Amino acid sequence: MTPLEEAARAAQHAPSVFNTQPWSWRLTGNALELYADPSRQLTTADRDGRLLLISCGAALHHARTALNAAGWSATVERMPDPAKTQLLARIRLLHPVPPDPEAQRMAAAIYHRHTDRRSFGDREVTEFELTKLRRFVEFEGAYLHVVRPDQIAQLAISAELAAGAEIDDPDYRAELYRWTHRPSFTGDGVPPATAVKSELRRVPIRDFAPDETAGLDAGGAHDQGAAYVVVFGTGDQPVDLLRGGEALSALLLLATADGLATAPLSDAVEVEWPQHLLRGLLAGIGEPYIAVRLGYLPVGQDPAPLAPRRDPRDVITIIE
Ligand SMILES: Cc1cc2nc3c(=O)[nH]c(=O)nc-3n(C[C@H](O)[C@H](O)[C@H](O)COP(=O)(O)O)c2cc1C
Repeated sequence: MTPLEEAARAAQHAPSVFNTQPWSWRLTGNALELYADPSRQLTTADRDGRLLLISCGAALHHARTALNAAGWSATVERMPDPAKTQLLARIRLLHPVPPDPEAQRMAAAIYHRHTDRRSFGDREVTEFELTKLRRFVEFEGAYLHVVRPDQIAQLAISAELAAGAEIDDPDYRAELYRWTHRPSFTGDGVPPATAVKSELRRVPIRDFAPDETAGLDAGGAHDQGAAYVVVFGTGDQPVDLLRGGEALSALLLLATADGLATAPLSDAVEVEWPQHLLRGLLAGIGEPYIAVRLGYLPVGQDPAPLAPRRDPRDVITIIE
């Protein structure tokens, strides 16, 4: 297998909204192209396609990380052809370089990073760790806001309001049902085995199983030591959102490599008023892309089950 095909395969493990995996890859010679797949866009929760672009950005960063870890230098052009709006990025393989040890640690995390919706324990995420995460996010061209203790209530209200507005909408309920009841051959969607039973939480999480089929208990840990962060940027053009997704991936992979459990939270950016509240947390200086809960699982807890992935043969087209 060529390094570019390996990179596209590694990118299959990237996180995506509702596990829609809204991307495809075309591999020709020494170029790998990333395309958005609009047929996989959530038409209610993600009307503007922002979360689709963030998900594709995460896949792009996974591919870049796999290449760096394997010892290849590459160039990346984002939105290289204005006439092809679905063409999000083109990676060109250059030449072998000494493998980057930090990228190797991050690349190893690709295979065990997953979203854990259970509550995290009392052990706090240190300032040192948060500073390191911020550096990685900034390296990808985005910013990281660590939600202060006095702002947690506003984040919680924002998530609560968004969840309420969405669940009252029959179109959202239909969309949620569709992506949580996928036949196993599709290799996508959020299976109830990875959902958590509804319980009072410090900041509410998305209820993926309102029909009470969730396979996991939240656990008694209450998220007391969890940190809540917001990945944000200064623009909301497609290229900004793509880079926001790359930053999200950098955050999640580094956090996983450092032993943290992670869970993205996007309902608050999906509904107008909660999104406005979230912007308020950033003192009006940026455009919130996504929030993430970070923390440590209570000692001895098994990892949560992994979500499925599509068959790479359905996602990667190799043009000889
Ligand atoms: C843009 C984006 C938005 C997401 N929003 C949420 C969310 O609101 N709640 C949640 O529990 N998970 C959220 N996730 C996590 C996805 O549900 C998860 O990545 C997907 O189901 C695949 O599972 P995995 O992360 O365990 O591999 C989001 C992920 C991305 C990339």
